[in-house]
Amino acid sequence: MEDRLLIKIAMEAREKSYSPYSKFKVGAAVYTKSGKVFTGCNIESASYSPTICAERVAFAKCISEGYRDIEKIAVVGSEVKTSFPCGVCRQFMLEFGKDIKVICARSIDSYEVYTLSQLLPHSFGPEDLN
Ligand code: THU
Repeated sequence: MEDRLLIKIAMEAREKSYSPYSKFKVGAAVYTKSGKVFTGCNIESASYSPTICAERVAFAKCISEGYRDIEKIAVVGSEVKTSFPCGVCRQFMLEFGKDIKVICARSIDSYEVYTLSQLLPHSFGPEDLN
């Protein structure tokens, strides 16, 4: 799947965002090597800390459906300034592969692509527990 199409799917997922407190909508779309797509949006809570980011929602849906072969994820937040995944999401996603591509998009025509190792260098991951 082309990066631009995955961004478009993430933008559609962003419409589902439940973010009455921050009013900051985020959408994400995961693409697996086996060709599956899983979407996510941020979901906030009146008690704030249970809030979950769009990336972790998309990953949780993907993993819980039995797919761990994640190739890439597109993330779309602000249309004014490119948003990047928060530190918690970087760590969470790294669990499933340092080479996963993260497409950080502002729009279909404006995006930057990094691997998780680039976004989270010198990381602590599953291999460190062996
Ligand atoms: N948010 C995400 O969904 N992903 C990120 O990587 C950064 C932040 C959400 C969480 C919260 O609902 C809102 O954006 C403002 O922080």
